[in-house]
Amino acid sequence: MTTLPDLVTDRLRLRQPAETDLEAMLTVFNDPVIAANTISIPHPYTRDDALGALEQFERWRREGVNRVFFIEDRATGALVGSASVEHKDPPGRGELGYVVGRAWRGRGYASEAARAIVRFAFDSLGLRLVTAHAMLHNPASVRVLEKLGMRAVGVIPDACRKDGESFDAHGFEITRDEWARLDAAQEHPA
Ligand SMILES: CC(C)(COP(=O)(O)OP(=O)(O)OC[C@H]1O[C@@H](n2cnc3c(N)ncnc32)[C@H](O)[C@@H]1OP(=O)(O)O)[C@@H](O)C(=O)NCCC(=O)NCCS
Repeated sequence: MTTLPDLVTDRLRLRQPAETDLEAMLTVFNDPVIAANTISIPHPYTRDDALGALEQFERWRREGVNRVFFIEDRATGALVGSASVEHKDPPGRGELGYVVGRAWRGRGYASEAARAIVRFAFDSLGLRLVTAHAMLHNPASVRVLEKLGMRAVGVIPDACRKDGESFDAHGFEITRDEWARLDAAQEHPA
């Protein structure tokens, strides 16, 4: 896969990040709440952080280890956040991630974007299991994962490391078969 495809949903377009996103990144990702709930986005979020992130996303994409999409609001073209699937060992597994900027929260955007990423992970990347972790102090992210239909697997000790410190996290997962059943039920409700 050379470039990322566009993933289009009702209200959003998930697309490859670009250098032209730099200014918008400085607003969307410069947020202590994002820094507190993710492992690699610092606060304050500087121009160098944004430039470094764009280079890293590109490197990850070329290596096929992590696909990071930017989320765009289709109605305005505004950058609203990011969503990703990182490949994990063993092969066939991916880890879901998402961030929505403060101004755009509470509209169901994270859930809509995450659903598109899970579909991409199973249908385009051929993965068999998608996992996700939400820090214990992040009920909004837990809710996103519940709404997606992912299965809670309990609290995972030392699930994430940030700045040399380990954090427990709520673990979630969904298999390709579980997703296919959910998808079929949503398309053909009883
Ligand atoms: C978590 C995050 C992505 C959610 O984005 P969003 O676009 O607002 O998410 P959605 O609107 O799709 O869903 C959020 C759900 O959480 C609920 N919620 C929000 N704050 C909550 C809280 N403090 N306690 C419980 N539920 C909460 C919302 O009501 C909504 O559920 P509902 O649709 O049943 O009402 C966003 O807050 C964010 O980017 N946070 C910082 C980064 C982060 O945490 N990323 C995830 C790392 S695992």
